[in-house]
Amino acid sequence: MMRAILMGPPGAGKGTQAEMLIEHFKIPHISTGDMFRTAIKERTPLGLKAKEYMDSGALVPDEVTIGIVADRLAQADCLNGFLLDGFPRTAAQADALAKILSDLNMGLDGIINIEVEDAILLERLTGRRVCKQCSSTFHTVYHPSKEQGVCDKCGGELYQRSDDTLETAQNRLKVYNDQTEPLIAYYSEQGRLKRIQGDQEIGQVFRDVLDVLE
Ligand code: AP5
Ligand code: MG
Ligand code: ZN
Repeated sequence: MMRAILMGPPGAGKGTQAEMLIEHFKIPHISTGDMFRTAIKERTPLGLKAKEYMDSGALVPDEVTIGIVADRLAQADCLNGFLLDGFPRTAAQADALAKILSDLNMGLDGIINIEVEDAILLERLTGRRVCKQCSSTFHTVYHPSKEQGVCDKCGGELYQRSDDTLETAQNRLKVYNDQTEPLIAYYSEQGRLKRIQGDQEIGQVFRDVLDVLE
């Protein structure tokens, strides 16, 4: 059983660490960003709503985001735990999450914040490549796939996220600092936040995260 939240700025390595953590703990990965990208690809009403916000680097409105997380956490596979990636990102989302979990009679085992400075984040975002099929994440320099443009895990085609241009990435960092960074104080004051130094090699970050969770 592991119920945890992965927080951190865009490019901190949430998705990269999540891939390994969900294998380790055998729990579902709940990434609101991935859910929105799937909805956009499938052209669902949710996708149509989310797209304009994501393309500019803004946050999708709370009403929309909170609803999809509430539905997801109520599904049966979350009874044995879950890893939230990129939610909550606003004070309203944090309050809503507390309510959702208390209604489901669930607590949290860990709240992790991965910390990395802005200059490094921009390099990571603009060099990122993602698998079209399985969403595995690579980096042209820091975590290259064995064959260029091809996913190591499933052989799928790698693409660059449309919000990973320099301009949109800069805007995402600003939005993070304005709206999400304050949650660090919110969870720290409750004495529940574990800080992880994210500017280390991917395997070392993983060991540090496991250390604080186990
Ligand atoms: P989302 O998809 O969650 O994007 P994000 O938070 O901006 O975070 P990223 O996915 O960009 O970064 P990451 O921390 O996962 O880093 P990764 O592991 O990929 O959200 C996208 C959008 O959806 C938002 O802008 C918003 O519009 C909307 N949205 C989502 N959730 C929302 C919410 N709750 N409320 C409202 N709107 C919401 O790594 C990045 C790169 O670095 C990769 O190339 C990787 O290979 C490399 N890397 C990783 N770790 C290391 C390392 N240790 N050393 C070197 N390189 C590394
Ligand atoms: Mg991610
Ligand atoms: Zn793949």
